[in-house]
Amino acid sequence: MPKKNVSNSQNKMSDDVQFKSKIGLIAATVGSAVGLGTIWRFPAETQANGGAAFLLVYVLCAFLLGVPVMISEFSIGRGGGSDSVGSFRRLAPGKPWWVIGAVAVVASYLIGVFYMVVGGWTLSYLWHSITGSLYDGGASTIAGMDSQFQGCMHQYVMTPVEPVISTIAIIVISGGILLGGVQKGIERMSSLMMPLLFVLMLAFCAVTLSLPKAKEGLEFFFSPDFSKITPTVVINALGQAMFSLSLGMGILITYASYFPADTKLTRTSVTVTSMTLVVAIMMGVIIFPAVESFGLTEHGLSGTTLVFVTLPEVFAQLPGTQLWSILFFVLLLVAAVTSIVSIVEVAARFVQNAMGWTRLRTLITILAPLFVLSSACALSFSTLADVKICGLNLFEALDTLTNNYMLPLVALGGCLFVGWGCPGLLRRELSNNGSLRTRMTGILMFIIRYIAPAAIVTILISNNL
Ligand code: PHE
Repeated sequence: MPKKNVSNSQNKMSDDVQFKSKIGLIAATVGSAVGLGTIWRFPAETQANGGAAFLLVYVLCAFLLGVPVMISEFSIGRGGGSDSVGSFRRLAPGKPWWVIGAVAVVASYLIGVFYMVVGGWTLSYLWHSITGSLYDGGASTIAGMDSQFQGCMHQYVMTPVEPVISTIAIIVISGGILLGGVQKGIERMSSLMMPLLFVLMLAFCAVTLSLPKAKEGLEFFFSPDFSKITPTVVINALGQAMFSLSLGMGILITYASYFPADTKLTRTSVTVTSMTLVVAIMMGVIIFPAVESFGLTEHGLSGTTLVFVTLPEVFAQLPGTQLWSILFFVLLLVAAVTSIVSIVEVAARFVQNAMGWTRLRTLITILAPLFVLSSACALSFSTLADVKICGLNLFEALDTLTNNYMLPLVALGGCLFVGWGCPGLLRRELSNNGSLRTRMTGILMFIIRYIAPAAIVTILISNNL
């Protein structure tokens, strides 16, 4: 069985290539999971799919399928002890399983390309909250505010100059964090930022729970109408669970290669999943009472409008508008940056290991093309709006390619590898090489072999119908 930290010419790992503390390890992994998908896609999906019924299915999917798939990715990373390609190579030398890891590297890089843009929008909104210009319009009716904030979105997101500048700023910030390496960069940053994120979320929960129609909002979110559970709702909930837990992106494989040998994988994955769900649920507790209280329900909460139009409308009606706005965009930025860092790390670790380069050289090589690619993506709503791939602009094309095809394929490949391709890996990793008693291996293996692949194939098919 390949051991960790084996140093050969292909896998020159620096000394700090392990997380130092358990808390840091959890903070980094939860930091990756809690991103824009958890904070903003989740409430939007919940609203579109009937509220509490969706929440229920989402929680079930996260525990029954998300946890086992996460455990399989952790097993590959810690068992292989390398990046997402190297881990497969070490565990199955001479076999083509590493292709799954290679798809993960490409997918994560492509996600990085467009996620930088969204990070950039968040930065712009933070900036305009600080200067106060976001609230200059002074509209007082809902319709007036609607057009005011749609106008702002147009100005900050859909014009050529500002989005490119803020996208580049995000690339530089992420590069700076990544340059610190695993312990001094990723772990330290996550350990500082994740508690901040939780505190900010609690503050927002306190505010929205004191709003006049908090009860109605919570009812929509928490009292399930079981008749709303349709096959589409289940498939959407499953897709959301996979995305919000960062499955199929190579992130969990890469981060697990930094886990110490005594990390308990089952406990870690349950903790990460629970904390991610708590954040998602807190976000629902923030959004739905606010949306009910301010009569914003008919807008729908879809995509970008939720954070860039609906929420500013809420803040505009709260006392202390600017403060809440600043705090919210700080929260969003924290969520975005901890996820961006994790997604870039997949390619960075792969290139660093494969080429034996220094961290600095690796990051320059990886991030330099992003200046061009992400900027082009930032322009896909303005200057490059006419550049279409299969009818989609650049941003949408990358989003669709990665989410609909590549991520499910990687997640599926990971399950097949652990379930069928690498006998003994799961048991070894769950028991930390025989030193822990495990009662769950049988049931987890059953899910990883049969149930999870069937569910992922269903998502793949339904995404492409
Ligand atoms: N779980 C993350 C999210 O909710 C997924 C992700 C991670 C996306 C890293 C992009 C980058 O946003």
